[in-house]
Amino acid sequence: MSSPIERSLVLLKPDAVRRGLLGEILGRFERKGLVVEALELRTMDAALADQHYADHVEKAFYPPLKQFMTSGPLVALVLSGDEVIEVVRAMIGSTDGRKAAAGTIRGDFALSNRENLVHASDSPESAQRELALWFPKL
Ligand code: TYD
Repeated sequence: MSSPIERSLVLLKPDAVRRGLLGEILGRFERKGLVVEALELRTMDAALADQHYADHVEKAFYPPLKQFMTSGPLVALVLSGDEVIEVVRAMIGSTDGRKAAAGTIRGDFALSNRENLVHASDSPESAQRELALWFPKL
C-alpha cells in the first residue's frame, strides 16, 4: 500500500521577492513534478516570526533573522508530492549559501547564512506545525 502524499510548507523569503527570483525558484519545484497546493503573498509580522521560528527565538542570530524575515513580502507555499519534505530540502541545499552545493537553490543563488532565499519544513512534525500556522484552513 502506498503512503499518503506528503505536504511541505515552503517560504520564498523576502530576498527572493526583492531579487526577482520567484519564477526561477518556483519553476524548479514545478519542473521537479511537485504540486502547488496553495500560494500566497504574505508579510510576516513579529508574532508570526516568533511562532514560526519558535526553536530559534533564544539564539543570537534570531534578532537579525527576524528583522530580515519581516522586512517585506514573501511567498508562502504548500507543496505536495512523494516524499516532498526530503525532496525540497535536497533541492534548497544547506543553510549557508556559501557552502550549499552547486545545483541547489541556495548553492546557485545565495551567498549568505541568513538571506538564503527559501525556507522548507525539515520533518513531518515541523511540516504539520508550520502548515497549521500558515494555512490553518487547508
Ligand atoms: P535552520 O533551521 O538552522 O536552517 P534551515 O533554514 O536550513 O532549516 O535556521 C533557520 C534560519 O535561520 C536559516 O534559514 C537562516 C537563519 N540562520 C541565521 O541567520 N544564522 C545562522 O547561524 C543559522 C544557523 C541560521
